Amino acid sequence: FRTLDQLDPAGKRVLLRADLNLPVRDGQITDRTRIERLSPTIRELAEKGARVIVCSHFDRPKGKRVPEMSLKPMAEALAGSLGRPVAFADDCIGPVAEAAVAALKDGEVLVLENTRYHAGEEKNDPAMAEALAKLGDVFVNDAFSAAHRAHASTEGVAHRLPSYAGRLMQAELEALDAALGTPARPVVAIVGGAKVSTKLDLLGNLSRKVDVLVIGGAMANTFLAAKGMSMGKSLQEAEMHETALRILDEAKAANCEVLLPEDLVVAEAFAANAPHRTVAADKVPEGMMALDVGPGTVAAVESRLKRASTLVWNGPFGAFEIPPFDTATVQVAQMAAGLTTSAGLKTIGGGGDTVSALRHAGVAERMTYVSSAGGAFLEWLEGKTLPGVAVLQEG
Ligand code: 3PG
Repeated sequence: FRTLDQLDPAGKRVLLRADLNLPVRDGQITDRTRIERLSPTIRELAEKGARVIVCSHFDRPKGKRVPEMSLKPMAEALAGSLGRPVAFADDCIGPVAEAAVAALKDGEVLVLENTRYHAGEEKNDPAMAEALAKLGDVFVNDAFSAAHRAHASTEGVAHRLPSYAGRLMQAELEALDAALGTPARPVVAIVGGAKVSTKLDLLGNLSRKVDVLVIGGAMANTFLAAKGMSMGKSLQEAEMHETALRILDEAKAANCEVLLPEDLVVAEAFAANAPHRTVAADKVPEGMMALDVGPGTVAAVESRLKRASTLVWNGPFGAFEIPPFDTATVQVAQMAAGLTTSAGLKTIGGGGDTVSALRHAGVAERMTYVSSAGGAFLEWLEGKTLPGVAVLQEG
């Protein structure tokens, strides 16, 4: 794919697909990470004399103008992050957008209203893609986190303009390649989270590609139960036992070591500081539930990480949002960050909960790379083609 290194944007209208789908609560943006990660691309284009036209979706207005889903607050936040004025157009296509684009001078930045106000966006309607393409001379996609959507502003438009990856897109793709494409081996993957059923494709793909697959979180309970262990009242998916056993067989056939918890921290209730103790994985008492993995498991993970060259991480080990059941997640995160510095371990993490967990452990900045994406990161780990990336690779 082409990057900004191959583009001289001076005097050009650059249509930039960003992901301004920021978390908002009570009308306030609660996390500006995506804006901060996107800003270098905009700054570079503006400083090189481009007319930067930013488009993005926000939330899911389903083709209607839902006022609470306006991108206006994001345009203001972007101006703050860039330290330069940012204009706003009340529509992303049509006369309003075209007039705003025509008024732009070299080096100026414009944000267009929510692309999902038009039903054509999610349908990848050729008319919508055409209307967007009219606004730019070239297209730059910096929205890796929306690249799993084949929409007019992520996929359709890229067929109609010379297309480039922005700096954030480039960084995401390079990190993912280092994680699973052409990784330094051995590769350890940690997969946690609640359900096997939502991560089936992920587990299948990783077991074919990595050397060690560490399974944590409540989904580990399903695997342990499938192997015949009694899990007390731990969260698990009884209907997934056969699938879990099949995943273990496939991993074995692919020479992938699967590391399941050898000990668990159990409590009677899912509550902060609930009375708890550590038991062997096959000794979960009736009436108790596993809420974290124990120190023996953390030590086993550590021994694998010390021999590894690459770590891919998605999903916490335990109920990390309520202490002390964040212990294993925090310990492994700190260990991974330490090995990144001391031993050159390449550590790549992503997916919503994972980023929160790494932040909670205070190590998000010390990992080799933390993805800005949720669903797109997962689909990539599942081995799926991301339409927004595929079209860049064609060009
Ligand atoms: C995300 O936040 O993961 C992306 O912006 C995609 O949003 P969507 O799930 O509404 O398509």
